Amino acid sequence: MCGIIGYVGKKCNLKELLIKNLKALEYRGYDSSGIAIYDDNIKVIKSQGKIEELEKKLKTIDIKNSSLGIAHTRWATHGIANDINSHPHRVGGVTLVHNGIIENYIKLKNDLIDKGYNFLSDTDSEVISALLDYIKKEEKDNIKAINKLAKQLEGSYALEIIFDGDYDNLYAIRKDSPLVIGICNGFNLIASDITAIMDYTKKYILIDDYEIVKLSKDKVEIYNNDLKIIHKDIQEISWNIGEAKKNGFSHFMLKEINDEPNVLKATINEYIKDINTLIEKMPDFSKYNMIHIVACGSAMHAGLVGKYIIEQYAMVPIVVELASEYRYKNNFYDDKTLVIFISQSGETADTIAALRNVKKDNIDTLAIVNVVGSTLAREADQVLYIRAGVEIAVATTKAYLLQIAMLILIGLNMAYVKGNLSADELNKVLKEFQIIPTKIQKIIDKKEECLKLAKNIYKMEHAFFVGRGIDYALSMEGSLKLKEISYIHSEAYPAGELKHGTISLIEEGTNVIGIMSSSDLSNKTLSNIKEALARGANITLIVTEETDKHFDFPCQKIVIDKVNNVLQPLLIVIPLQLIAFEVARLKGCDIDQPRNLAKSVTVE
Ligand code: F6R
Repeated sequence: MCGIIGYVGKKCNLKELLIKNLKALEYRGYDSSGIAIYDDNIKVIKSQGKIEELEKKLKTIDIKNSSLGIAHTRWATHGIANDINSHPHRVGGVTLVHNGIIENYIKLKNDLIDKGYNFLSDTDSEVISALLDYIKKEEKDNIKAINKLAKQLEGSYALEIIFDGDYDNLYAIRKDSPLVIGICNGFNLIASDITAIMDYTKKYILIDDYEIVKLSKDKVEIYNNDLKIIHKDIQEISWNIGEAKKNGFSHFMLKEINDEPNVLKATINEYIKDINTLIEKMPDFSKYNMIHIVACGSAMHAGLVGKYIIEQYAMVPIVVELASEYRYKNNFYDDKTLVIFISQSGETADTIAALRNVKKDNIDTLAIVNVVGSTLAREADQVLYIRAGVEIAVATTKAYLLQIAMLILIGLNMAYVKGNLSADELNKVLKEFQIIPTKIQKIIDKKEECLKLAKNIYKMEHAFFVGRGIDYALSMEGSLKLKEISYIHSEAYPAGELKHGTISLIEEGTNVIGIMSSSDLSNKTLSNIKEALARGANITLIVTEETDKHFDFPCQKIVIDKVNNVLQPLLIVIPLQLIAFEVARLKGCDIDQPRNLAKSVTVE
């Protein structure tokens, strides 16, 4: 949530540079934005709306080439999205941008009001600015002042700070919100995300909680909590710049769906050349007799798909929980339990908090993460990286696919090491895995069919996704994809559960999208679909060659190839993503940046 970027170095057209970098961060929040640039004095320019609005405003303002600046794109937490609540916030001699939430800001604000401060905005961030300005009245050393500030703040923050009079340096600190320094030639950058620096450098340093950064044109100083200078390793970005571009596609989401065959191929090459690679590349699962999977949103939906697979093949009980619930409840585990955390960004606040709780109890943890070096990846005992590359569209597609792929591999690995799957059986599945990318491509090539289905769906206000077993888990993601990007109200239901209440909502024309991937359960699902049809539902089906019956009722359908049951989910997700995309496109929605959302949910 919120993207921040700072620059210090040789003079340049900073207005342009900051806007370009902010655009790379826009997926983190996009309800308002702003910049502060040093130009004889500090100039702060902010605007409600997307970065384009700020860009328009900046065209009318004359700013000289500059050597120091900070910028922010906001996902509102405190106060509505307007110019005043936008960042940067400048109080006295302190100008800063903030990503996070300050939980004790009301108390701090009241204390500062008593000391004579006035506030213009409703934000917690302006309070930080005022507090630091107040601390600076006594404490002249900027590093010590930031350290004193951190001792008073409760909550999460990544801060980039400019102090009046100290225009050769940019300062920063973080707690529970990401920050990364980009080491460049003649200048340095600091941002909430690698995507904002990767056009300029491949060299980066990750900042940890409470570390204070003093960044100048050609020097990086990092202080620990005891105010001692520390050495941190410089790392290399392995992603290509091209991955963060649309590459000719109309939308990032469409580009990322089209990336799916290739990113799955990369996962296959890394993990499943043969049984030995699968065993070597993965943790030893043999000791575990219980697994908890903890995640948010789509990552949790991937976990649910994993539950069906691991329980069926490895015969190990799986508990899947939302991180925002898990972190605040009693959880029952022991030294034979593994807790798996799934996250594309590796920075989701609730998932990180849940991981930290589990670690306090000395339970083994494993993270399935996309972003290399993210907080979850660094803090979990073990990490399995999915190799989705940069995912920019707010609605996840390729990362979700690879999360499922990784859970399938874990299920197969566990089934094998526990003696529930023979080497022959495993070899057979691994061989079939190799052809899944081609099968996915075949579905992507059927986009005209998905468009046809979408035309049948997009005019209605409601949709229900139904399925049984693993199809129910997949329905949950299909439903989320549709609602988040097209704003059609949508719910996922286990097909057999509809008539226990929800069927009362089905009326003439209500969309019911049925998933029937398994021959075992498809007849049961079909009966439930017919019950909805009898009440006037508009039926769309996702079926395989095997479950495709000659339906004796009006329906639209897409038929996908039948593959081994354990691999079938990898194909089912593709039409779900494409249908949601086409519906949103027909409705003219802002697909890559849906309203009210942000890609990386770094506040709880
Ligand atoms: C939906 C979506 C979200 C994320 C969720 C968790 O399309 O992307 O539901 O899955 O916010 O994010 P990560 O995976 O970064 O922890």
